[in-house]
Amino acid sequence: MSRAKIAYSCSQCGHTSPKWAGRCLGCGAWGTLVETALEPPTNPRFSGFAGSAGLEPPVALGEVAAEVAARLSTGLTELDRVLGGGLVKGSTVLIGGDPGIGKSTLLLQAMGMLSAQHKVLYISGEESVAQISLRGRRLYVDCRQVPVLAETALERMVPVIEAYHPEVVVLDSIQTAYTEILNSAPGSVSQVRECAAHLVRLAKTRQMAVFLVGHVTKEGAIAGPRVLEHMVDTVLYFEGEAGSRFRVIRAVKNRFGATGELGVFAMTEGGLKEVKNPSAIFLSRQQVDTPGSAVCVLREGSRPLLVEVQALVDETSLANPRRVTVGMEANRLAMLLAVLHRHGGVPLVGQDVFVNVVGGVRLNETAGDLAVVLAVLSSLREKPLPKDLVAFGELGLTGEVRPVPHGEERLREAAKHGFKTAIVPCHNAPKGGIAGMEIAQVKTLKEALSVLRG
Ligand code: TYD
Ligand code: MG
Repeated sequence: MSRAKIAYSCSQCGHTSPKWAGRCLGCGAWGTLVETALEPPTNPRFSGFAGSAGLEPPVALGEVAAEVAARLSTGLTELDRVLGGGLVKGSTVLIGGDPGIGKSTLLLQAMGMLSAQHKVLYISGEESVAQISLRGRRLYVDCRQVPVLAETALERMVPVIEAYHPEVVVLDSIQTAYTEILNSAPGSVSQVRECAAHLVRLAKTRQMAVFLVGHVTKEGAIAGPRVLEHMVDTVLYFEGEAGSRFRVIRAVKNRFGATGELGVFAMTEGGLKEVKNPSAIFLSRQQVDTPGSAVCVLREGSRPLLVEVQALVDETSLANPRRVTVGMEANRLAMLLAVLHRHGGVPLVGQDVFVNVVGGVRLNETAGDLAVVLAVLSSLREKPLPKDLVAFGELGLTGEVRPVPHGEERLREAAKHGFKTAIVPCHNAPKGGIAGMEIAQVKTLKEALSVLRG
């Protein structure tokens, strides 16, 4: 008997090489090569090129009937929003997230709601039917009508799907599924890719929506090859901070809607509850004024969100002071510190600077710049900022404070939550001002700092 051929494939990019190496030649990642059995050289599905007879010619875009993508509501408005207004028939949605974050709970709830009007199917390779039923009973959503199948082999689940004709299918999770065409173990690069590709095709031909659950690696990427993200129509991440009951779902890719939208849930005894007005949940409501904390108003998707930025400036014991960030880019912090030094006259040589964005929120927006700088300054001087102060605005390299989109809306949201003073870029406040709020409009970092002093 001949030995099975072995190759080493990268678990991140899928690049294969005949020899093991510490570093992948394809993507440069370290320690990602894993042993995989080599597939037979010819693809069993390859049947030669088709002749020209019976093939469809290309169509001009103007001649395509303009049918609006039919959308199904999942019954969870927060999830619908992130999907771009509901689930599109024929599309595949990948949901990634850490184990235990609530992916299975979220999808079971959505299926429970959907099952009232649509035919759904929940396929689980992780839990037994009894386990899922037990979980379903605990949820406040009625899941009794949800058909469940415990299956991992693609060859056995596809016939069920084809016979049952569901409109929405959940596969929990793609890493447990395997196809018998390949010899490699479930969860390996080739298995994940092949199973996902098959289901994506099935979704398109049958006009059903498919949810794939994917595990996330330590580094935060969806395990398996990156190609998984390219194959599907929508990639959602389900995240939450350890110890917090709030869960945030965001789209990182969406062919049928905007990315950057945010859905917020709270994990409760009875499953996930939607948080309809999440703008202030990430503020830590501290009783005492502490230095090093500033509040800014971000916009996540179409909603304003009040977020606390914390900074700690401390004398360093290292030759190269540390710049550590959680929730924002370290390079951006380095840039802001340089601007603060050069245009604010605040030297931070010999100081470690740590910045944390509270609640697991990410400062993807430059609107957070001003708050970061103020938090750093407050920690350095050990002077708390006024408790009722919000600040937002982008900082440029020349020390100017630039306006950000939707200034008025941000200010109104802050006013709603009891903030009384604001430092914002020029032109970002409405002409008539905002009732009950004192707004300082600044053009430069210097001006912003003098507002604080004065
Ligand atoms: P789960 O959906 O199994 O996570 P995933 O599929 O992402 O791995 O969620 C499991 C966690 O959720 C578990 O730690 C318990 C918690 N949970 C609740 O707090 N309330 C509930 O009603 C349910 C079903 C789960
Ligand atoms: Mg699960």
